Amino acid sequence: MDGATVGSPGQRPGVIGQRAPRPPPCPPKSPQCSVVSWECSMCPLCCPPRCHCCHSKHQPTASPPDAPPAPQDSQFSLSPSPLSQNLKDVLASMIPKEQARIKSFRQQHGSTAIGQITVDMVYGGMRGMKGLIYETSVLDPDEGIRFRGFSIPECQKLLPKAAGGEEPLPEGLFWLLVTGEVPTPEQLSAAITALNSESKFARAYAEGINRVKYWEFVYEDAMDLIAKLPCVAAKIYRNLYREGSSIGAIDPNLDWSHNFTNMLGYTDPQFIELMRLYLTIHSDHEGGNVSAHTSHLVGSALSDPYLAFAAAMNGLAGPLHGLANQEVLLWLTDLQKELGQDVSDEKLRDFIWNTLNSGRVVPGYGHAVLRKTDPRYTCQREFALKHLPKDPMFKLVAQLYKIVPNVLLEQGKAKNPWPNVDAHSGVLLQYYGMKEMKYYTVLFGVSRALGVLSQLIWSRALGFPLERPKSMSTAGLMQLVGYKSGIRPGSPASERQPSSSPGQAELTQEFLHRGRRSWSPLALQS
Ligand SMILES: CC(C)(COP(=O)(O)OP(=O)(O)OC[C@H]1O[C@@H](n2cnc3c(N)ncnc32)[C@H](O)[C@@H]1OP(=O)(O)O)[C@@H](O)C(=O)NCCC(=O)NCCS
Repeated sequence: MDGATVGSPGQRPGVIGQRAPRPPPCPPKSPQCSVVSWECSMCPLCCPPRCHCCHSKHQPTASPPDAPPAPQDSQFSLSPSPLSQNLKDVLASMIPKEQARIKSFRQQHGSTAIGQITVDMVYGGMRGMKGLIYETSVLDPDEGIRFRGFSIPECQKLLPKAAGGEEPLPEGLFWLLVTGEVPTPEQLSAAITALNSESKFARAYAEGINRVKYWEFVYEDAMDLIAKLPCVAAKIYRNLYREGSSIGAIDPNLDWSHNFTNMLGYTDPQFIELMRLYLTIHSDHEGGNVSAHTSHLVGSALSDPYLAFAAAMNGLAGPLHGLANQEVLLWLTDLQKELGQDVSDEKLRDFIWNTLNSGRVVPGYGHAVLRKTDPRYTCQREFALKHLPKDPMFKLVAQLYKIVPNVLLEQGKAKNPWPNVDAHSGVLLQYYGMKEMKYYTVLFGVSRALGVLSQLIWSRALGFPLERPKSMSTAGLMQLVGYKSGIRPGSPASERQPSSSPGQAELTQEFLHRGRRSWSPLALQS
């Protein structure tokens, strides 16, 4: 959409200007056209973004019944106009108010201390150090994730669903993450867009746009990326596992997840429901996790959203983060290979201890912040109990749930012995035939785009600066806290004797040798 035309009818003018009034609603001409009916327009199958009759967008004629209010503990208190149907319009009206709210908060509390930094925190991966603003979700150690204040069960209840479906639509979650409001059905359809793939932010930046407009171009890139990701991910799947077959065409009458499962080549309605749930619950987990923090950091350098998201994906690929779901399935497969089906609790305990004693972690258990069972685990378990209670792999996962926490408690190292999201997801995917474990992190990435990109829009809208924490050397830190010890290699230069670096020539040779190996012209050509 053209950035110069934001603002909705019946709404205060946005920062940029006012849009031309929309055409008045026309009565439906066919029984399928239900744009003016709230009940039927819950259904994205018969209510595509454009009206069947006149092929234009309508304003709804009535307010949605029981539009749920933002929860009490919501992080976000600015309500957009209930009639706004365009996400960018809604943002344009919210951003100035939020900027003003934060400005006044900082004027009053800018120098209020909010914590102490200990030496352990500096060495401990900054755990517990309050050092980031991340608006879209907050993780409670006991309760788990809340998306704009809503828990997973609340999202499952309140977010729009597909016709006949019971799981939330991820598009609705994206709207919630961006605006802090549960979307109305019309707003939901507006979140589905297909645009081109070049970064509009990078282009606009090169042309020298004013920084107050950054968010608009980041928004455009975010929408493009989210629209294109299922196609890219499905093509990867088809190329790797389905002999390069076509992903087919996007069906504008279907929701984002349904289209994605079609492109992957799956048609089971239960799998489509699973995908809606999966893509919703993997989207966001506040700002400090590796993928969210990476996109936040890279984005803070004003790298465009494509680059920031790609960087996040490289973090997600680590086995302690997104790859853990693949690790879980590999571990379960090894377990079954070694012990067979119907394993006794005793044998399972031994297997878990063997894993720990060989210096490995039990994948799918533990968390840096959570201190209880991950609600994302729980909702997947409920899905399994409903749809695949007799699946042998699910039964094994359920049996492990009773045993692993006790073993981890007995070992006494892990601060959280309970399962996380990754302990369950692979089992569900493979039940419906998606057995290619290496692909699971790609799926996770498609979902994570919803969270990190909605935050990226707000990061630019709120003018967050370049992220640049202060690092210290051990020597400097010891000096800071008054610790006296012998001289270490990193201690201040003034305390050390100059050295003649006798190994330098060998080091130069090794660099050259390794460089020749990996940068041969042949390697570059392939
Ligand atoms: C997620 C994870 C990386 C969090 O790490 P963390 O914040 O350092 O966790 P803790 O503070 O509880 O770690 C304390 C110790 O317990 C160990 N620990 C934590 N979870 C463990 C697990 N599932 N199995 C075995 N040991 C575990 C840690 O490795 C650490 O050991 P160390 O002191 O020898 O280094 C960790 O729990 C883990 O490796 N889990 C398995 C991988 C996984 O499921 N990742 C997905 C997370 S959503």
